[in-house]
Amino acid sequence: MKDFLAITDYSKDEILELLNLAIELKKEWKTKGNTPRLKNKVLAMVFQKPSLRTRVSFDMAMRHLGGDALYLSPSEIGLGKRESIADIARVLSGYVDVVMARVFAHEHILKLAKWSTIPVINGLSDYNHPCQAMADALTILETFGRFKDIKVTYVGDGNNVALSLMNICATVGANFVISSPPGYEINEQHISLAREIAQENQGFVKVESNPKIAVKNADVIYTDTWTSMGQEEESIIRSKVFPPYQVNQELVSLAKKTAIVMHCLPAHRGQEITDEVADGSHSMLFPQAHNRLHAQKAILLKLLS
Ligand code: CP
Ligand code: NVA
Repeated sequence: MKDFLAITDYSKDEILELLNLAIELKKEWKTKGNTPRLKNKVLAMVFQKPSLRTRVSFDMAMRHLGGDALYLSPSEIGLGKRESIADIARVLSGYVDVVMARVFAHEHILKLAKWSTIPVINGLSDYNHPCQAMADALTILETFGRFKDIKVTYVGDGNNVALSLMNICATVGANFVISSPPGYEINEQHISLAREIAQENQGFVKVESNPKIAVKNADVIYTDTWTSMGQEEESIIRSKVFPPYQVNQELVSLAKKTAIVMHCLPAHRGQEITDEVADGSHSMLFPQAHNRLHAQKAILLKLLS
């Protein structure tokens, strides 16, 4: 596989291999520090939207591995505006070794990959967020030591983060339940595909619109913003629809006592998650964010080796 664009492009064995590599790299970095496995390699980071985690974790991943990273801001290269995506892809392919891009339209990342002769990594599109899902799976595996019989309940908008989380759960054989308000569910076609993948891996994917039922016996409760980047004009209407789907102490108390709470961040405290939960004893928000670094090192190494 030349690129890292979607979880469904990878087999269960390939995802598990990447997760094991991430665990190995994390341990190695914590004990030995930086290792120059990507010496002289350069990553170009193309952003059409803001970022904290994706930008800093990719940059630091390259530095820890002895390489370098270039940040190209939304105003700098004007993906598809100042210049065509096909031209940008061919130009960057002659300068750097790998590209990571965060785009509005998923088709833009596909086009970038099509025209690049170097690997392209999806740093989030309107459709999915596979690097986030890798860090999420890493966090779940580190916490529980397995995926089998782990119930992951996602509460909130059926967005890019939810889609990649569903697909990675289905791929590794964790059980996935999603609870979204009517009209904000993951599209039925994507649910069906994930169900097929889950079945092959002895897991299941379920839809349960009542969040209180959905979190029953959950090992993981996951949520994300009600309004994603690019949907800002819908934020008022969304803020009226989503409150019953807030992850608060009452909802968390309905899951297993050992349940962890996850959020890709940035969090909108008081909306999709309360302070009490985000800073409470079940919260894995910051270890999860830190795992972006380790999961992405594995992706970079795999694509560049
Ligand atoms: N979770 C995540 O992708 O965060 P950023 O938007 O800050 O990169
Ligand atoms: N769903 C959010 C994720 C941010 C990391 C968004 O797309 O804005």
